[in-house]
Amino acid sequence: MKILSGIQPTGSIHIGNYLGAIKQWVELQEKNECIFFIADLHSLTIPYKPEELAKNIIEAAIAHLAAGIDPQKSIFFVQSDIKEHTELCWLLNTVCPVGELQRMTQYKEKTKQFKKNINAGLLVYPVLQAADILLYKAEGVPVGKDQVQHIELARTIARKFNQRFGKVFPEPKALLPKIGAKIMALDNPKQKMSKSLGPQSYISLFEDSKEIKKKIMSAVTDTGKVIKYNPNRKPGISNLLTIYSLFSEKPIKELEKKFKDKGYAYFKKSLTQLLIDSLEPFRKKRKELLSREVFVKETLKVGAKRAQPIAESTIHETRAKMGLA
Ligand code: TYM
Repeated sequence: MKILSGIQPTGSIHIGNYLGAIKQWVELQEKNECIFFIADLHSLTIPYKPEELAKNIIEAAIAHLAAGIDPQKSIFFVQSDIKEHTELCWLLNTVCPVGELQRMTQYKEKTKQFKKNINAGLLVYPVLQAADILLYKAEGVPVGKDQVQHIELARTIARKFNQRFGKVFPEPKALLPKIGAKIMALDNPKQKMSKSLGPQSYISLFEDSKEIKKKIMSAVTDTGKVIKYNPNRKPGISNLLTIYSLFSEKPIKELEKKFKDKGYAYFKKSLTQLLIDSLEPFRKKRKELLSREVFVKETLKVGAKRAQPIAESTIHETRAKMGLA
């Protein structure tokens, strides 16, 4: 299967991004043709500091490499290095109904969150995302739950284009992990773990031991003492069980049994240790990569060189179908 996915370079990559998306990418690259990229153009739609962007892109690249993206197996690059993303976005804008864009949950959330900066980019954001996917004719898009609506719109756009101009694009499918597609915030388990909720809500992939301990021990849990998975009635402990299960690769049922009468504090201590141990190799690898910035930049350039001819070929085909020479 042809796989593609991306992530925005907006500060720390957290364990929600890892469990919802990157962990799948690392597995998928073993047996599939994979393309992964840093969505820097998408990140321009919310307030940011231009002088920090280049650093954030390198940080995001390092995070991927540290988490196991192998540039020998996957094509890995920065979105804005391939101009065809923006060209295809414009062409697809002409087949995408505005009503669909106005209905997008993330658009509605972001216009509430950034009232003073409701730019047109926020609205057409999902069209750029569709362009990212369709430019490489990707079939599977491994993402967390919050991105499903955008992938469905990419399907709609592909279908509308194919109907009007003749078949160019396959209709992509979202690939969700069986569990962990929506990791919740540690300090508010009714909301999705997210950078925008502030550092208390998430654990970064490179968090140090002291912070991990502080954040897990103070994570919001529910009343009662029994360690039981029930996301509706016990969202806090269920979220922690999900995280435990994914990092330990043990089924939730087994964890419920193991921690049955042990109480929340004991369970949280155990989870703290598990996270410290699981994230240690990522921290080590990041440290090594931070001292090899030239290598990281070169890796991204090589990735862009591999992506370029695929992008050019699709643009050529799309332009021809639309009557542009
Ligand atoms: P972004 O940068 O917000 O998130 C990157 C990936 O992490 C997943 N994710 C989560 N999964 C589980 N639990 C969470 N709490 C959690 N938070 C984030 C997201 O679902 C996503 O898979 N628009 C995209 C980037 C993008 C893209 C694309 C993705 C641009 N072009 C083309 C796929 C295909 C975004 O903002 O992801």
